[in-house]
Amino acid sequence: MEIKVALGRIEETKDKAIVVNLFKGVKTPGGATGAVDGALEGMITDLIRGGDLTGKFKEVVLFRTLGRIPAERVLVVGLGEKEKFSLDRIREVSAKVARHLRDAGIDTFSTIVHGAGIGGFDLQQATEALVEGALLGVYKFDRYKTEQEEEEKRKLKRMTVVVKDQKDVDTAKKAVQWSQTVASATNLVRDLVASPSRDKTPTRLAEIASQVAQEAGLKCTIIDRDEAEKLNMGAFLGVAQGSDEPPKLIVLEYSGGPKSGKPIAIVGKGITFDSGGLSLKPADSMMAMKEDMAGAAATIGTLRAAAELKLPLNLVGIAPCTENLPSGRATKPGDVLKTHLGKTIEVLNTDAEGRLVLADALGYATSFDPQAIVDMATLTGACMVALGKKTTGMMGTGEGLMEKLKEAGRKTGDYVWPLPLFDDYEDQIKSEVADVKNIGGKYGGAITAALLLKKFVKDVPWVHLDIAGTVWTDGAPDALKREYHPKGPTGVGVRLLIQMLRDWAPST
Ligand code: BES
Ligand code: ZN
Ligand code: ZN
Repeated sequence: MEIKVALGRIEETKDKAIVVNLFKGVKTPGGATGAVDGALEGMITDLIRGGDLTGKFKEVVLFRTLGRIPAERVLVVGLGEKEKFSLDRIREVSAKVARHLRDAGIDTFSTIVHGAGIGGFDLQQATEALVEGALLGVYKFDRYKTEQEEEEKRKLKRMTVVVKDQKDVDTAKKAVQWSQTVASATNLVRDLVASPSRDKTPTRLAEIASQVAQEAGLKCTIIDRDEAEKLNMGAFLGVAQGSDEPPKLIVLEYSGGPKSGKPIAIVGKGITFDSGGLSLKPADSMMAMKEDMAGAAATIGTLRAAAELKLPLNLVGIAPCTENLPSGRATKPGDVLKTHLGKTIEVLNTDAEGRLVLADALGYATSFDPQAIVDMATLTGACMVALGKKTTGMMGTGEGLMEKLKEAGRKTGDYVWPLPLFDDYEDQIKSEVADVKNIGGKYGGAITAALLLKKFVKDVPWVHLDIAGTVWTDGAPDALKREYHPKGPTGVGVRLLIQMLRDWAPST
């Protein structure tokens, strides 16, 4: 969908539909809604009086203008209670409107910026939320469908953001560009996560990453099996050895900061299919396991967005990609693997493979002398048990970094919340034969997984994000259910990290 900014008055705008809003309980609309109401000789006030329009959150009332104004239709969207109004509500309302119009077969519309002015947000923030909500809300993954009803094929062509002051045009244009970049990276991540494993093998993912790198101006290095052997990445290779697909460790580098500036490292788990290996998963649990590379996808997406937004800092993104399959050559429970940093791991369950590939990727990340490391991984079912599927689990050693991420989560709606990393849990991962074992018993599974990772970050401030619960939504009550989260992959991590990096480099 194309997004434009236009200078003008919404009631004078010619389009298939114009969009205005109403807070709950307002009887006499003001601002832009009031202006449209005036031009329509009180049609909106009439709807309110008749009880057909109440301003309830996400309420949508669409009607034809019968030639009284240049626009063919007006859509009034409910903003809900004024006290509950937030940036996330702007995203939700915008997503709802875009989907409603698309599904009604209306492919172009013009909208005011909900929340600017009367809602109390500044124009830039509100416009960003508006554009982000619409672009994320209309996302569909239909590239594998060859048969679709006409209604299902409907797509929006254009959204025009209408501002009425000349001085606001540049701000709105900047905000549109920012959000288009972030939403497009998020939707790229969604596409990658939704893709079938056979079409996103480690080799294919590495090709996609190098193409992204070329387009965005990133440096891309692919570490293949031979190279990984030279780097003594025994844990990464131990996971890969059961598969016929060669493993690839993707390294993306972005230099937007001073030459001497230490990079921030972003590391993402890239298991392109997790069968569990010889510790085979039951069929039902395996069904979703194409999503096990969401950390790697979010790493690629974040690096792309950071480069396109020209954030003034240096980043390195590292994504260890492999399948986890059983075979005659697969790693067996009881095997001991030697990592890049030299520490050994006893593998007692081959389904706890994420921490193995991350042990090598995190260890390798420390060789870039980073000022901080953030990893993202669909790591444990236990995290879902602890926090549900609506919040990403956060553990680490970088206290300041965790505060920054919590704040970024609050701003973006991509929520994170801390779980403890107390040393007391260490006993659970002590091995009889190696330096550490890869399972920690029945309780506190998200924590014991993170404690293993902690052994591979040296003394670099580090945060681990367990996205197993937040990576996918099926629309059920226990899953993420925002209007800008259509069923499927959520694209978790990109908006969160870009916000964190933006706050890190406050000149943008
Ligand atoms: N990829 C899974 C975790 C997962 C589960 C992600 C559900 C998304 C949805 C991970 O590799 C895994 O299998 N973890 C095991 C660890 C256990 C064997 C210690 C788990 O959580 O059951
Ligand atoms: Zn697993
Ligand atoms: Zn996994």
